[in-house]
Amino acid sequence: MLTRRDLLKFGAIAGAAAALPLERLTGAFSTSAAASTQAGPPVPLFGVPLSVPPVLKPKRLFGVDFYGITMKEATAEILPGTTTPIWGYDGIFPGPTVVARSGRPVIIKQRNQLPEGTAVHWHGGNVPSSSDGHPLDSIDPGRSRFYFYPNRQPAATLWYHDHFHHKESAHTYAGLTGLYIIEDKAEQRLGLPKGKYDVPLIIQDRLFNADGSFRPPSPEEFVGDVLLVNGRPHPFFEVEKRAYRFRLLNGSSLDGLIELGLDSGGTFHVIGNDGGLLEAPVPVTNLPLAPSERADVVIDFSSYELGSQIVLKNAFAVFGGAADVMRFDVTGEAGYNDGLPATLVPVERLSESAAVQSREFVMAFDLATARMLINGREFDPERVDITPRLGDTEIWTIVNGETQLPIPHVFHTHLVRFQILDRDGAPPAPEEAGWKDSVRVDPGARVRIIMKFGDFPGRFLYHCHLLGHADLGMMGQMDVVLP
Ligand code: C2O
Ligand code: CU
Ligand code: CU
Repeated sequence: MLTRRDLLKFGAIAGAAAALPLERLTGAFSTSAAASTQAGPPVPLFGVPLSVPPVLKPKRLFGVDFYGITMKEATAEILPGTTTPIWGYDGIFPGPTVVARSGRPVIIKQRNQLPEGTAVHWHGGNVPSSSDGHPLDSIDPGRSRFYFYPNRQPAATLWYHDHFHHKESAHTYAGLTGLYIIEDKAEQRLGLPKGKYDVPLIIQDRLFNADGSFRPPSPEEFVGDVLLVNGRPHPFFEVEKRAYRFRLLNGSSLDGLIELGLDSGGTFHVIGNDGGLLEAPVPVTNLPLAPSERADVVIDFSSYELGSQIVLKNAFAVFGGAADVMRFDVTGEAGYNDGLPATLVPVERLSESAAVQSREFVMAFDLATARMLINGREFDPERVDITPRLGDTEIWTIVNGETQLPIPHVFHTHLVRFQILDRDGAPPAPEEAGWKDSVRVDPGARVRIIMKFGDFPGRFLYHCHLLGHADLGMMGQMDVVLP
């Protein structure tokens, strides 16, 4: 992980920021009020309880789950005593959670009642191109679109968010994000904590104006100074002395890389990555989580005293980011504790020898034009950059080409899940050895990933998931072709 010292080595952050034109971030936010650097109201630590987004109820017909979601403007009480205008799926932030069943299709009718176009992307989904939320398949204000999600993939914590051309960052910052959970039998047999002991934690950084509204970042700002969990600022959560499953999503729209750990120094277990469960739980005390990455973890509070307060910390609080995420308050005895299984699910290893194609993607900021490029080009939705064949296994080398500025990137693929082969030649840590769709690529690093193309042909994107970078062109397009 990029450390604070590494960053300092590259020179003062302010100096780096000054090299970036105003457009660097604020350009993406033209729909919001003009950027200002006035401080937001004080945000008390651990002053509000955690809440959990509601789970949507489907209408089940012919073996398909049907949903309707309306994207609209609304307000939310995020900071106590203030109201925040948001753009929300069904007018809430974060949006409602969809819980799907592996193998049972979902159809969602998305209605756009916002003043701008939208495109709903199912992040992590094995999805037909027409339902992927491609920027050219946008929904005009007042219109709607049906999205078809086949759920031909194992249990995983996925999400959905806006992908409107050049507005990914601003639209998700305004609130357009929600969780999409897939369940399956293999997972159910494991006896993992469930029901109220299975809790999503969507972590997002934000900046606020004094009136409580979201403030777009100024050119000197890279991350928000407030961390929201499920839309609540630095909340507390009352837990029983037992194991909980937490589905962590870093849903930041800014450059909010985080590195999670408990202030007790306690160990917790990673049981899943972006695309599904791991082969076995991996004990960690520290867990980097870049924007768009998910980590499924189990924290067992049974060894803590009643009355203990355990803070979930962010060890990567650079650029003015927050060091505290939330607090767990151990307030209840548990009637029963779920054991952590020794093994989870088999993970099929993609073998290097099966690869028939290799490609390289260099991600770099171009100082001269102030654009973010992949292989020297900026995104053009009309251009196809690569044409992988359906069924092929490919190895991609992702290079962070930053040599002057300490800019991390996060490489994300639509449609396919991948496995990390190595990071600068070293195998991935066991806690990120499972199925991934996003991977952090630190300044100067080379990460090799392997993937097998299925199940759908057509146009899909790959891009940096620091969404401000994607807005500035750091995105490419593949046309998956039939063999
Ligand atoms: Cu969450 Cu194209 O990404
Ligand atoms: Cu995606
Ligand atoms: Cu980037």
